[in-house]
Amino acid sequence: MPENEKKKVILSGIQPSGAFTLGNYVGAIKNWAKLQDDYDCLYMIADMHAITVRQDPAKLRQNTMEAYAAIVACGVDPENSVAFIQSHVPTHAQLNWLLACSTQFGELSRMTQFKDKSAKHPDDINAGLFTYPVLMAADILAYNADLVPVGVDQKQHLELTRNVAQRFNQRYGELFTLPDGYIPPKGAKIMSLADPTKKMSKSDENQNGCIYILDDKDTIIRKFKRAVTDSETVVRYAEGKDGINNLMTIYSVVTGKNYDEIEREFDGKGYGDFKTAVGEAVSDHLKPVKDNFDRIISDKKYLQECYTRGDEAAFKISRKIVSKAYHKAGFVDRT
Ligand code: TYM
Repeated sequence: MPENEKKKVILSGIQPSGAFTLGNYVGAIKNWAKLQDDYDCLYMIADMHAITVRQDPAKLRQNTMEAYAAIVACGVDPENSVAFIQSHVPTHAQLNWLLACSTQFGELSRMTQFKDKSAKHPDDINAGLFTYPVLMAADILAYNADLVPVGVDQKQHLELTRNVAQRFNQRYGELFTLPDGYIPPKGAKIMSLADPTKKMSKSDENQNGCIYILDDKDTIIRKFKRAVTDSETVVRYAEGKDGINNLMTIYSVVTGKNYDEIEREFDGKGYGDFKTAVGEAVSDHLKPVKDNFDRIISDKKYLQECYTRGDEAAFKISRKIVSKAYHKAGFVDRT
């Protein structure tokens, strides 16, 4: 890119609701690191989103620190990107309110994640769970982000963000950029190893279906060996072979090999060999992440320095945009 051309802005976030899964890694965080040189990147730990389901406060604090350490361990460079904690930057909540008043009840009711999560937590269908996508829109629009790297499950929330931004712009005059999703061509939806018709998720009842990026080698290999496949024996990417397709996707992402190469590599071999090879490739790939994490998590001072710098930078950028939004909406300017 020519030197004087302004870089595009990227923003993404992840909830600190426990250890990150291979899905989070492949669908999102792995790409966050890759994009840092070509874009102005902002990455945040979405702790405000996390409390839409009940959390133990002490555990949430610990998870937030671990999540921050984990994104750094995965290659987010706090010197190169703005890496911050959502609740430390008050502009998100401020813009949230303004956008909530430009969001319709009907459109929030259609969000599939709201429907899924309220079915899972019928005793706590709180207003925050319902308005969650508005806060996500505020996260993105407060920085006028051009691109949002996420997995497929966040697509509907991004659509809503674009609609809300457009409505605000029409009502009050042009301000917000309509963001595009940056959805990886491969790995945007990693499936459960135990049920490859379902998304890999930390809330999966069957924990054998979910790989965590900090799992040790033996655990990773054991989970892959148990992965559900099909009654064929040929390693090939084809419709109806959800389990094998998922394993091939994972193997492809961590080794850089394409599907043809993988089919040739396992020509004449059975699923057992293939599953072991995927397990080994994933654990080799994640080894540096785990080593980095172990080092970073014990250095509280370093982590605090990093997120404080990120919080301040994020506030500085978003304050300008949110002040403009307040002005456009008719609030009297602060002196
Ligand atoms: P969260 O914390 O559920 O997930 C973080 C990221 O991981 C992706 N992901 C997956 N990708 C592929 N396969 C899977 N099995 C898989 N599981 C999760 C998600 O798509 C996501 O990109 N609402 C967001 C956090 C958020 C955010 C934002 C994201 C808050 N504000 C602003 C972007 C921009 C969430 O709950 O992600």
